[in-house]
Amino acid sequence: GLPERVTIWEVGPRDGLQNEQAVVPVEVKLEFIDRLAAAGLGTVEATSFVHPKWVPQLADAEALLADLPRRDGVRYPVLVPNERGLDRALAAGVRHIAIFASATETFANRNLNRTLDDQFAMFEPVVGRAVAEGLDVRGYVSMCFGDPWEGPVDRAAVVGVGRRLLDLGCSQLSLGDTIGVATAGQVSALLDDFASAGTPMSALAVHFHDTYGQALANTLAALRHGVTTVDSSAGGLGGCPYAESATGNLATEDLVWLLDGLGVTTGVDLDALADTSAWLAGRLGRPSPSRVVRALRG
Ligand code: HMG
Ligand code: MG
Repeated sequence: GLPERVTIWEVGPRDGLQNEQAVVPVEVKLEFIDRLAAAGLGTVEATSFVHPKWVPQLADAEALLADLPRRDGVRYPVLVPNERGLDRALAAGVRHIAIFASATETFANRNLNRTLDDQFAMFEPVVGRAVAEGLDVRGYVSMCFGDPWEGPVDRAAVVGVGRRLLDLGCSQLSLGDTIGVATAGQVSALLDDFASAGTPMSALAVHFHDTYGQALANTLAALRHGVTTVDSSAGGLGGCPYAESATGNLATEDLVWLLDGLGVTTGVDLDALADTSAWLAGRLGRPSPSRVVRALRG
């Protein structure tokens, strides 16, 4: 069966804009985020408090949050890798954070400048302090299916990293196919392994990049397993600057088209969303990679 309702975790302003070549003006980001919230997205991942030299595209995080209008009932989580990032996020009034771990040694090194094991030492005080302050903490696991340097990734390693994040105090895991190579059978197998390890499906989200065009099929497989939180990016923007061959995320419009067709409630107004992505594509100077945006507004 399928869930009656799916929670969409919109990552466009963060995963989408972290990968743009040109720096997007803060005014454009503010309008983008507020239009997404107005379109009915209840969670809009706004930015990252990472090192500004590592991700210059999001170096304006303080300025962004200072001017961001908060709508009632909308969450605006941010990425935080370490205690310095947490200090900055707390000073900006953030209530929802996400740490981001790697399931592979190479990507832990490339993305976090840490070994696989040392990343947990970095996260432990972040989660401890955040939970003590009453914040909600999500944990991403990257490279859950394939890694551009290491190839296929062992499922037991992914479950091990995920369980360690839950043990630290994360309320939810987001399982990332960072480079978009997974197929539906692999998604089912990984979710089965998490279930066998005692993880309820309500504690899991899926985060698919669409490099090989499998993101929607993979999402459907996850929904059939009982997952009810799905990450996506308006217009299909996205990618990780530290992951070779990563392309855009599953487009939120493509996801909403699927879920509307299945009669699954999302609360999202597809027209308002497609208008927003078409507007942003104009500001970025290139067409949206989303098939649905191109079909509706192309
Ligand atoms: P590092 O160089 O090891 O940092 O980088 P450090 O701890 O050695 O500190 C060095 C200096 O940086 C210090 O300054 C710190 O204060 C400063 P100094 O004392 O020398 O003057 N510093 C900071 N400044 C501002 N904000 C901070 C911060 N931290 C340290 N937060 C670090 C380690 C984690 C900081 C770096 O590797 C980093 O910023 N990485 C972020 C990479 C990133 O954002 N990647 C994209 C997001 S992940 C993703 O896209 C995947 C996902 O979508 C899921 C999926 O698709 O799989 C989530
Ligand atoms: Mg991503």
